[in-house]
Amino acid sequence: MLVVLVIHGPNLNLLGEREPEWYGRMSLDEVNKLIEEKARELSCRVEIKQSNHEGEIVDSIQEARGRAGGILINPAAFTHTSIAIRDALVASGLPAVEIHLSNVFGRDEFRHVSLTAPVCIGSLCGFGPHGYLLGLEALVHIIGREPGVT
Ligand code: DQA
Repeated sequence: MLVVLVIHGPNLNLLGEREPEWYGRMSLDEVNKLIEEKARELSCRVEIKQSNHEGEIVDSIQEARGRAGGILINPAAFTHTSIAIRDALVASGLPAVEIHLSNVFGRDEFRHVSLTAPVCIGSLCGFGPHGYLLGLEALVHIIGREPGVT
């Protein structure tokens, strides 16, 4: 069965309490339940991790090599700063999709730049928790398609 690694970056453990005007009122546990439900629908298995530490996220991406078929990642603030996470995504050789709950382009200018999105297949932002479900669906679709067919 296809395994997808789902990574939530720093401060996303505070979902529901943290800046609800940007991130909504759903807790991370509730978001994860939705992701697991979607995974069942798509007949894949998700391994979900949250970390506030850049190095831990790099370790998780490295460990996914050869074990997972793809990565769904919300690098949170590391999106805008982390060459290490970007390099780990490239080194993993795995297809990845980047997710943001908020519309980062409607916010501070420093959030308009993502170091990680260019090495992902695609990215979604602004759809709240539903973005994870759309992203998982897109990732599973891309992984399952015949090579060379777009
Ligand atoms: C975020 C957007 C980032 O700019 C921010 O640092 C986050 C969350 C989002 O999901 O909208 O922590 O990734």
